[in-house]
Amino acid sequence: MGEKLLEIKDYSVTFTSDKVDFYAVNHVNLTVEKGEALGLVGETGAGKTTTALSIMGLLSKYGTKTDGEIWFDGKQLTGMKEKDYRKIRGKHISMIFQDPMTSLNPVFPVGNQIADVIKIHNPKMNQNDVNSKVDEIMKMVGISAERKFDYPHQFSGGMKQRIVIAIAIACNPELLIADEPTTALDVTIQAQVIKMMRQLQQELNSSVILITHDLGIVANFCDKVAIMYGGEIVESGTLEDIFDKSLPHHPYTIGLFNSLPNIAEKTERLKPILGLTPHPSELPQGCKFHPRCPECLDKCKSGDIPSLYTDGTHCIQCHLYHKEDA
Ligand SMILES: Nc1ncnc2c1ncn2[C@@H]1O[C@H](COP(=O)(O)OP(=O)(O)OP(=O)(O)O)[C@@H](O)[C@H]1O
Ligand SMILES: [Mg+2]
Repeated sequence: MGEKLLEIKDYSVTFTSDKVDFYAVNHVNLTVEKGEALGLVGETGAGKTTTALSIMGLLSKYGTKTDGEIWFDGKQLTGMKEKDYRKIRGKHISMIFQDPMTSLNPVFPVGNQIADVIKIHNPKMNQNDVNSKVDEIMKMVGISAERKFDYPHQFSGGMKQRIVIAIAIACNPELLIADEPTTALDVTIQAQVIKMMRQLQQELNSSVILITHDLGIVANFCDKVAIMYGGEIVESGTLEDIFDKSLPHHPYTIGLFNSLPNIAEKTERLKPILGLTPHPSELPQGCKFHPRCPECLDKCKSGDIPSLYTDGTHCIQCHLYHKEDA
């Protein structure tokens, strides 16, 4: 076991709007160790971005209620004063946002935007050192340092994404959260960007939370996987735990795999998961997945959420695997 960097304990987020409660994140437990890459996977509306924004301390306070604790490197983030959070955000934890193309400022050269982050967190660094750091980071993400004077519109989509990543890693954060960092890119560029992120992560020995819908990306990048549905983590484990078909899996995880194209097995047709993700204001009783589950039992439809089935590093929140009380 490595050293824990991030620990999320029984954490929930409820948004209230027009007197309606939206249960976006429900009793989530997650751990990320130093140097480890965790894939957070789930369909739209699962609560992935809300979890990420919670770690960054960027949820709007208005109409938002949170429960549980988030710990980072021995410090509790939940309830931390904004003044203290600013010292952590960008320097120790940084995030690549879901819509990276809009996170660059069109009116400044990209080099200035990388330099700004370095200067904010290292106010005493002299300009020469800042400049050489900018050059070094641009090289790390595979862009020639001479291009630091260019503006965002002078770069292709894949290169802009590399610059967004350069800004996020400018201060060697211990934890990088990448929220769907390659969704806007075409498939070959996606693969390049993911490969580069993996190399950087290993070089800098940083931890990463990679948020994605795509289990294929997870397989190429992550050490650990957490599958999120209806604001809950329904299955988690190492890459092997999740990708080994001979092991038990949550029916939702199986559904995610069945909806992936699989060239090796020449699947005739993709089988999408029937039905829709529940809205967080109308989550079903019992197991949140039961209305869509092909294996639904009577006890899944009511009462508490199923308790966790665990086998070493592998956890599944599903009644199917508690045969003794079936
Ligand atoms: N400020 C808010 N007020 C009310 N509901 C919200 C708010 N922010 C998010 N939600 C709702 O919470 C749920 C979870 O949203 P979140 O953005 O975390 O999902 P996600 O897993 O990141 O989805 P996607 O894959 O589409 O990015 C969604 O149903 C969303 O509509
Ligand atoms: Mg999201």
